[in-house]
Amino acid sequence: MHATAAAAQRLAELTALNRHLQTAREDERARLARDLHDELGALLTAAAFDLARVRARLPAADPETLQRLAHLGQVLDSVVAIKRRVIEDLRPSALDQLGLPIALEILGREFGERSGLQVHLALQPVALGPAAEIAAYRLVQEALTNAAKHARARQLWVTLQAAEEGVELGVRDDGAGFDTRLAPPGTYGLAGMRCRVEAEGGTLVVDAAPGHGTHLIATFPAAAPAR
Ligand SMILES: Nc1ncnc2c1ncn2[C@@H]1O[C@H](COP(=O)(O)OP(=O)(O)OP(=O)(O)O)[C@@H](O)[C@H]1O
Ligand SMILES: [Mg+2]
Repeated sequence: MHATAAAAQRLAELTALNRHLQTAREDERARLARDLHDELGALLTAAAFDLARVRARLPAADPETLQRLAHLGQVLDSVVAIKRRVIEDLRPSALDQLGLPIALEILGREFGERSGLQVHLALQPVALGPAAEIAAYRLVQEALTNAAKHARARQLWVTLQAAEEGVELGVRDDGAGFDTRLAPPGTYGLAGMRCRVEAEGGTLVVDAAPGHGTHLIATFPAAAPAR
């Protein structure tokens, strides 16, 4: 086989493998989220009922016992909250139920409240398949984490819109920026973003320079219209 044809075939194989691995990972996360929801959820509900029953039977217990029961109730509430957070992180339910623009809006708003950064959102409805939507959502999650961790930014812009070549997703911050040629060893955030975007047939451009902020632009091919 001609060398360039062999290289092209190898690239196509790697792209298919990459896509398969990304899908397998998201499927596994969704399964874990379901198990946690169903099994842990059922146990926690049963424990909360038992606690309420014990409390009702001990209206005149000594103060220490009552205090311990109250504390047990608080612990249960915290575990329920953690369970919810872990499940939501494993499989963003907003994405399935409300679609990408609203899921990103919730993500951006909550991030702004937590981090104190000013987050500007301009999110249009776009035509993307479910796997590309997950890739886009995970990209924004990691970009927001990076902005909080590395950028010392004050403002952040997240944009989603139809573009000539498909769908364009942008995350920009006004922080420290960095030299894109110097990827620190053992870091996977940006590499993971690129893998996810390329698995969907898209491209990722990282536009950053020290002192000039960071701008990530992912372009996805538009999903074929349903027939
Ligand atoms: N928004 C940003 N502002 C400034 N520097 C950034 C930004 N995003 C990434 N960087 C730089 O690029 C490097 C690589 O980012 P990447 O997300 O791949 O790794 P990381 O965040 O260091 O580690 P992790 O593997 O946990 O994501 C970071 O260590 C940081 O130096
Ligand atoms: Mg990172």
